[in-house]
This record gives sequence, C-alpha cells and structure tokens, in this order.
Amino acid sequence: MANLETSYMGLKLKNPIIVGSSPLTSNLDQIKKLEDAGVGAVVLKSIFQEQIDKDADMNVDMEQAFLNHSDAYGFLRGASEDHYIDKYLTLVEDAKKSCNIPIIASLNGAGDGSWIKEYVPRFAYCGADAFEINHYEIGSNANIDGRKMDKDFIKFAKLARKEIKLPLSIKLGSNFSSPANIIRELDFLKYDGMVLFNRFYNPDIDINAISIKRGLTTSSKDEYFNSLRWIGLMSEEINADLCANTGIHSGETIIKMILAGASSVEICSALITTGLETVNMMLEQVNNWMELKGFSSIDQFKGKLAQERMEDPTLWERTQYIISLHS
Ligand SMILES: Cc1cc2nc3c(=O)[nH]c(=O)nc-3n(C[C@H](O)[C@H](O)[C@H](O)COP(=O)(O)O)c2cc1C
Repeated sequence: MANLETSYMGLKLKNPIIVGSSPLTSNLDQIKKLEDAGVGAVVLKSIFQEQIDKDADMNVDMEQAFLNHSDAYGFLRGASEDHYIDKYLTLVEDAKKSCNIPIIASLNGAGDGSWIKEYVPRFAYCGADAFEINHYEIGSNANIDGRKMDKDFIKFAKLARKEIKLPLSIKLGSNFSSPANIIRELDFLKYDGMVLFNRFYNPDIDINAISIKRGLTTSSKDEYFNSLRWIGLMSEEINADLCANTGIHSGETIIKMILAGASSVEICSALITTGLETVNMMLEQVNNWMELKGFSSIDQFKGKLAQERMEDPTLWERTQYIISLHS
C-alpha cells in the first residue's frame, strides 16, 4: 500500500481528498460519515454573510412595530446575527470533538470585507484547523472596470489575511483578466492555500414555463480541464499550496491534479451523485497507479508535470486547436 499522506496549508492529511463545502458537510452526522468513508479533511458548508444579513433584516422587519427605540433595532439585529454565527460555531466545535480529520471552516461574503472584522474574532476559539474564504462579485456593473474589481478583490483578501491568524485558503473563480497575476498577489499576501477553481451556481431558463430555473447544480467529469491548466501553470511559481476543485470525479483526475502540482483536491459532485463509497474507489485508483509506476509517496510525483519542470512549457499555454480533427 502506497503512502497517500499529503500536506496542505501545514495540515497533515492522510490522503489528498477533501470534501468541499456543500450540504455534504452541513451537519455532524454527515461529517462523521465522510470521515468513516476515509476522506482526508472536510470544508464545512459556508456561513454566508449575505444570508445572515438578509435574515437579520427580515427578523427586524417582522418586529418593526415594537422597535420604537433605536437601541432595540441594534439589539434585535445583533441577536439575530449571533444566532446564526453561534449555530455555525457549535457545528465547528462538535465536528472537532467528534472527528480526527482536519476541519476547515468556510466563510462566504461579498462587499469590502468589513464583516470579517466582526465575525472572525468569534471564530478564534472554536477549534477550526483552518479557514477557507470565498468571495465573488459578478462583473455585471458596466460602470466598474476590471482593474477596480481586481483592486477591490485584493483589498478584501488583504483584510481577510490580516484578521485571520489560522492557516487560510481562498477559493477563487477563474474569470480574472489575469488569473496568474491575482494568484501571485495572493501569494505575496501569504495565503497558505488557494482553491482552483470554484464552480459557481448559474441560472438557467425553463422554455416551457418561460421563466428562470435553477441551473445544473453538480459538475460533470469533464469540467476539470481549466483547474488542471492553472495548477500546471502556477504550482511552481508560488509558495502557497494549491487545492484542485471542480469536476474531479475519479482517482485518475486526482492523479492528474497532483502531477500538475496540487497538494490536495476538493470534491463534492462526485459524492452527491455516486455516494460515499466513491471515496474508497478513488483512493484505490490512486494507490494502484502509484504502485504500478513505482511511487511510494505523493511527494514523489507532485508537480512532476508543472510548467516550470517541462522541456516545452508552452504545452500548458496552448489555447488554439492548431491540429485539425481531420488530420
Ligand atoms: C449543492 C451545493 C452547495 C454548495 N455550497 C457551497 C458553499 O456553501 N460554499 C462553497 O464555498 N462552495 C459550495 N459549493 C461548491 C462546492 O464546494 C464545489 O466548489 C463545487 O461543487 C465544485 O466541485 P465539484 O465539481 O466536485 O462539485 C456547493 C456545491 C453544491 C453542488
């Protein structure tokens, strides 16, 4: 049996499979099942700043008639926020008490990040091994140019890094003008890890009802290529550990991500669609391949095909189909 241990953000993982933030990691029973299934770590379902704000506002609106004093408004809104944050902290604490795998808390929020200052001190003692933050603004405001969006994103990332003392990763989308520049900037800020890439929820249209409907929630096994390319391009250029995400549905894809330079992978759709036994199947595939190729540890092949180590580094950069399908 090969040694599948890996290190991610300074955490020791018994294998590279991390379960990504999702309903799979939203309650204790499920988290324990994931540990029993053999995963290396879990990222808890995100706490959404947007949702907390919305619910707190709704609670305040419902009690409007009684809020004839401005202190009462502040108190009720604060109590509602506390309720959600405390519930989340309890999940982190319970997961830490009941499991032996690393527990990564996930914070999701938009705006300038001022909310981080408010939330983070409360997380300091809950026992999370690390944090993953998730921040995404859709570039739908035509009055804001890309340069300003990038600047605001880095400002947010800087604030989060300053406030969060635990190992910290950031889950990124790929739609920056220059992902390489953003990834390097985050590395300068001393992020311990980066997750490449998040898969965002997209709306769809129901042509019978002529209305907006929910887009496909889960990924397919062919959606990993973009993450693979950027891990191959960036893994040797930065100090932060890279975690591959999106479209990882087999041990074969995990091997590819590690060859490109990933330290770990986050999976979600594969487990939602095919069940927890998939973890064992993936680990077996990785182990069998390692034995076949004569690798006894992950480090022996991690980054072997990263761009910096290639004789022809342009292989990772090619985007045009020069060779025709008919040739
Ligand atoms: C139903 C569902 C809920 C999710 N909720 C979150 C979330 O709360 N926070 C987050 O960072 N990612 C969330 N994700 C994204 C996943 O963590 C993951 O990044 C994405 O699904 C791509 O990985 P996959 O191809 O293995 O599914 C969610 C995904 C799904 C399918």
